[in-house]
Amino acid sequence: MAVGTVLVTGGTGYIGSFTTLALLDNGYDVVIVDNLYNSSKVAIDRIELISGKRPAFYEIDITNEAALDGVLDKHPEIDSVIHFAALKAVGESGLIPLEYYRVNVGGSIALLRSMQKHSISNIVFSSSATVYGDATRVPNMIPIPEHCPIGPTNTYGQTKVMIETVITEYLEAERRNNKKAGKPYEQFNGALLRYFNPCGAHPSGVMGEDPQGVPFNLLPLLGKVATGERAKLTVFGDDYASKDGTAIRDYIHVLDLASGHLAALNYLREHKPGVRAWNLGSGRGSTVFEMIKAFSKVVGRDLPYEVAERRQGDVLDLTANPARANEELKWKTQLTLEDACADLWRWVENNPTGYRQDPPAELLEALKAKKA
Ligand SMILES: NC(=O)c1ccc[n+]([C@@H]2O[C@H](COP(=O)([O-])OP(=O)(O)OC[C@H]3O[C@@H](n4cnc5c(N)ncnc54)[C@H](O)[C@@H]3O)[C@@H](O)[C@H]2O)c1
Repeated sequence: MAVGTVLVTGGTGYIGSFTTLALLDNGYDVVIVDNLYNSSKVAIDRIELISGKRPAFYEIDITNEAALDGVLDKHPEIDSVIHFAALKAVGESGLIPLEYYRVNVGGSIALLRSMQKHSISNIVFSSSATVYGDATRVPNMIPIPEHCPIGPTNTYGQTKVMIETVITEYLEAERRNNKKAGKPYEQFNGALLRYFNPCGAHPSGVMGEDPQGVPFNLLPLLGKVATGERAKLTVFGDDYASKDGTAIRDYIHVLDLASGHLAALNYLREHKPGVRAWNLGSGRGSTVFEMIKAFSKVVGRDLPYEVAERRQGDVLDLTANPARANEELKWKTQLTLEDACADLWRWVENNPTGYRQDPPAELLEALKAKKA
């Protein structure tokens, strides 16, 4: 008997696929919805390869409320939702804001409406540290706690703030209305998970990030430089007020991030806190140059880069204060950015075309031997 059944939107994507794995490994059943805009169905095969369990999958668009209704009608056992499906490229969001609001905000509203119709009242939401914007504008906010004032500096971050607001107002209204009517209300709960910089891959080397287009994040880009697919890395800005002039980020291994979702979901089910925000980060800040150095070390040679102008909307320092998640969720990062670099390189070196190829036989053998 499963502990529960979770609808995972965006579950074939990078963080969604690793979270699905963590859920399956911990006794949950999973139903994935994704339109494969930025992912591949092969992710499901890899989840099955590692966990021995296959999640149900529906290729649908998150903005299509009728299609979501169809999935929830078919799966009355679903009791919670983890919501990843979104567009996520910061630069692109400023070029096509309407599309970002339509998919991210519109899609979340369609999802909540469908959940409401099907009496599903727990939601864990993929928010982002981007909601804080430039935390250095306020004194004493680095590392960033959850009470840091919100102030996104780009459209993508704005969509995350809006979705947090919609989720909060919706769940609080449901609680109030039900309480007033003398009905149970504590089942309405939401986790707003503000991630810092997710990175890394599965240590087996058979599962990792496989975006459909050009990646935007530092480590996947470094991976492409290491395989020769890209000539060099562009570092955006070396005139920030950090020790080496490059921007500071808090890198968190995707396995740790996935277990953070599990911890948050279990917390909602057990403690019924209403809506609560948690930072998921390590608390350790690293500069871009430090990351280039760490990744070059696992690759075994220096990787070429060039410095360009700062990118609009980028900020100096996004380092988490993860104390609230550490204490309340009893969760903290276990893996280091060196682990993330080593795991990412194992994935990229062995699977240069991502999910468009089979993993090398020796990695499959090693996985089999480990499971046996
Ligand atoms: N990766 C990061 O650095 C990061 C940081 C903070 C927050 N997040 C958030 O985490 C979530 C997952 O990010 P990720 O890095 O795994 O990205 P991803 O692109 O790998 O995953 C997103 C998934 O959503 C799907 N999707 C997109 N539009 C859809 C639509 N209209 N209908 C159905 N599915 C759709 C994509 O196909 C993809 O599988 C996103 O909400 C993102 O904003 C990511």
